[in-house]
Amino acid sequence: MKILLLGSGGREHALAWKMLLSPLCDKLFVAPGNAGTAGIAANVDINPLDFESIKGFVLQEEINMVVVGPEDPLVKGIYDYFKKDEALKNIPVIGPSKVGAQLEGSKEFAKQFMVKNNIPTPAYESFTKETLEEGCTFLTTLKAPYVLKADGLAAGKGVLVIQDLSEAQDELRNMLVGEKFGQASTKVVIEEFLNGIELSCFVLTDGKSYKILPTAKDYKRIGEGDTGLNTGGMGAVSPVPFADAAFMEKIENRIVKPTIEGLKDAHIDYKGFIFIGLFNVGGDPLVIEYNVRMGDPETEVVIPRLKSDLVELFQAVAKQELDTVNLEIDERTASTIMVVSGGYPEDYDKGMVISGLENVEGSIAFHAGTKLDNGNVVTSGGRVIAVTSYGSDFNEAIKKSYQNIDKLSFDKMYFRKDIGFDL
Ligand code: AMP
Ligand code: GLY
Repeated sequence: MKILLLGSGGREHALAWKMLLSPLCDKLFVAPGNAGTAGIAANVDINPLDFESIKGFVLQEEINMVVVGPEDPLVKGIYDYFKKDEALKNIPVIGPSKVGAQLEGSKEFAKQFMVKNNIPTPAYESFTKETLEEGCTFLTTLKAPYVLKADGLAAGKGVLVIQDLSEAQDELRNMLVGEKFGQASTKVVIEEFLNGIELSCFVLTDGKSYKILPTAKDYKRIGEGDTGLNTGGMGAVSPVPFADAAFMEKIENRIVKPTIEGLKDAHIDYKGFIFIGLFNVGGDPLVIEYNVRMGDPETEVVIPRLKSDLVELFQAVAKQELDTVNLEIDERTASTIMVVSGGYPEDYDKGMVISGLENVEGSIAFHAGTKLDNGNVVTSGGRVIAVTSYGSDFNEAIKKSYQNIDKLSFDKMYFRKDIGFDL
C-alpha cells in the first residue's frame, strides 16, 4: 500500500523508519519531512495544515492511508475533512476526529472528560476574562506552587508553574486579559500542584479496543539536573523502571479503560494514538494531560521497541479489528538523546552543516530539525538529531547514544549529558 505520513520531526522519522520495515508498505511519502525521511522515503513539500493540497496529492498518488504525526492537523479536523469528502471518505486517517482531538486541543475539555469518567486527575477550576477576579480569589485558597494552564494549544509553552501567589495572580491576568498565549489563553485552567514523578503512557486505539504501548519518560528541561527552560524534550528512556506490573495495572484499570469507554459513550470517533501524561503520586497514577499523538522524543524510544508490524497495527485500527492483532514488545531498554542547536529553546541559528552522521554505528540517528542543502545535511530547527540506542538496561543504552553523539558535530551543538540521572 501507499502511505502518506504528515509531519517533519524526530517522531515522524521514527514512524517512517518503522513503517518501512513492514512488507505491507510499498511506498511512503512524508509531508513535509526532513533530511532523515528524505533518505528513506519520498518527501513532499506540503504543509500538514493545507488540507486542500493534501487532498490533491492523496488522489493523484492514490494513497491508501494517511498517518498524522503532529496534533495541529488533528485539532483542525483533518479526520473529519476526509470523512466528509466523497472522494476521500474511504481512505483511513490514523488519528482522532476533531472532537476527539479536543482532549489535547482544550485543557478544559480534557478535565471535564476525566471528571465525567472518574479518571484520577488533580482538582481544578477554569476561568475566563469575565471571571478573572474569582480566579485570583481561587488562587488564594490553594497552596504554592500554582499551576496555570492555557486552555488551547500553545506549542507546549502554555503551562506555568509559579511559586509566588501575587506573581501567579499577575500571570493569570496576563493570560486572560493580556492574551499572553493569544487565543489559547482566553480560558485558563488552574490546577492543584502534584508532587511526584512524571511518566508517559502510550495507547493505540481503534475506538473499541486498545493496545498499551511501552511507557517512556522524557526530560523536558534544557539544563542538566532538570534545570532551566522547558523544551520539547531533550531525551527519553523506555521502559520507565518504576512503572512495574502493579502500577501498570492501576494505569490500565483506572485510566486507559475508562478513557476508551468514555470516548465510546460520547460517540467520539477515535482511531489513533493517545499519549497520557501521568504523575506517580505515592504509587497512584494521576493524569495531568492527554495528547492525541505520539510524543517527541518519546516516539524515538517507544516505536523502536515494537516488534509488531506498525502498518498492520494501523490497518487493524482503521478496520476496528485491533483486538485481533498481537502486540509484541522488545524486552530491551531504549534511550534517546536529543542533540540541539545552542540557544534553543530561545533563539538559535539554522543552516549549520552537520557532520559525522555516516559514522554512527550501533545507534539510530533519527533526524528532527534537519534539511538537505546542496547535498549537505544542515540544521533547520532547535532540536536537530535524536540518537537512539538499545541496551540490556538504560545505562548501557544511554552510554551507546553518547558514544555515537561524540562522532557528530555542528556549530554550537548542545546536548544534556545526564539523561537518566534520576532513574
Ligand atoms: P503539560 O504541558 O500539561 O505537560 O505541562 C507541562 C509541565 O508542567 C509538565 O510536564 C509538568 O512537569 C508540569 N505540570 C503540569 N501539571 C502539573 C501539576 N498539576 N502539578 C505539577 N506539575 C505539573
Ligand atoms: N515530549 C513531549 C511531547 O511530545 O509533548
